[in-house]
Amino acid sequence: MSLVITSILDGICTVKINRPDKLNAMNGDVAQELIKTFESIDKDNNVKVIILTGEGEKAFSAGADIEYMSKISPDESVAYAKVGQLLTSTVELVRQPTIAAINGFALGGGCELAMSCDIRIAADTARLGQPEVTIGIPPGWGGTQRLMRIVGIAKAKELVYTGKMIKADEALQIGLVNQVVPLASLQEEALKMAQQIAANSTMGVQMSKVAINKGRNADLDTGLSIELLAWRNCFTHSDREERMTAFVNKSKK
Ligand code: COA
Repeated sequence: MSLVITSILDGICTVKINRPDKLNAMNGDVAQELIKTFESIDKDNNVKVIILTGEGEKAFSAGADIEYMSKISPDESVAYAKVGQLLTSTVELVRQPTIAAINGFALGGGCELAMSCDIRIAADTARLGQPEVTIGIPPGWGGTQRLMRIVGIAKAKELVYTGKMIKADEALQIGLVNQVVPLASLQEEALKMAQQIAANSTMGVQMSKVAINKGRNADLDTGLSIELLAWRNCFTHSDREERMTAFVNKSKK
């Protein structure tokens, strides 16, 4: 069985981590397969939105593979972290908007992977956290950097230093996830949001993503310049013209 399963329907690509017997923990093979998958989707003009989830009802992903990490040298650990960081950056920078449908545990690398997505919808059964310090390491797949950008530095330090798992409701309260839904309707809710995004201008959505992602780490003036470029880019596109004309003519595109 493939470690990563993809399916595309009406412009929405669902990517599923498929190692449920190990709670979708990401060994090197899973991580490399995910990188290849996202690189390939990035080039696919038929895909408008990506949903990332885990197989089974227990875990989105329980993180990096602890059994593997228990045996590796410092140099091997750097190679493994580089694969993990490449994975989270590849997911973050993929052209299409991404929704993590968190169907259970999202721990360590699993939480880091979810944080690389643009939007996170969690099942009410989900548990999130960065428990790396309990096994002697800091987060190493982007968690020390992305968590504080999402929830603020104080909450990020609390979660990373304690290594505690939080429930979906608390994750919602601190802004780590966008929405909490019953597990039974998770995929349907993720699909609903994906459809709403897919119905919009692909160019408009992708340029918004670039401007937000690039602007986040820039000063305001630089961010506003990036926004202008993204804005102008859309004015070169026929889709923008058609949608605005349809609005003016009161005819639905
Ligand atoms: N790496 C490797 N294997 C993992 C794993 C991980 N991160 N997380 C779970 N597994 C494996 C377990 O070893 C077990 O394998 P086995 O059936 O061959 O023994 C299987 O997945 C099921 O996990 P188990 O621990 O039995 O399930 P549980 O319901 O009792 O506990 C968790 C669930 C998530 C609390 C527990 O698995 C856990 O703490 N996992 C590690 C989470 C973590 O620290 N991640 C960060 C890594 S940097």
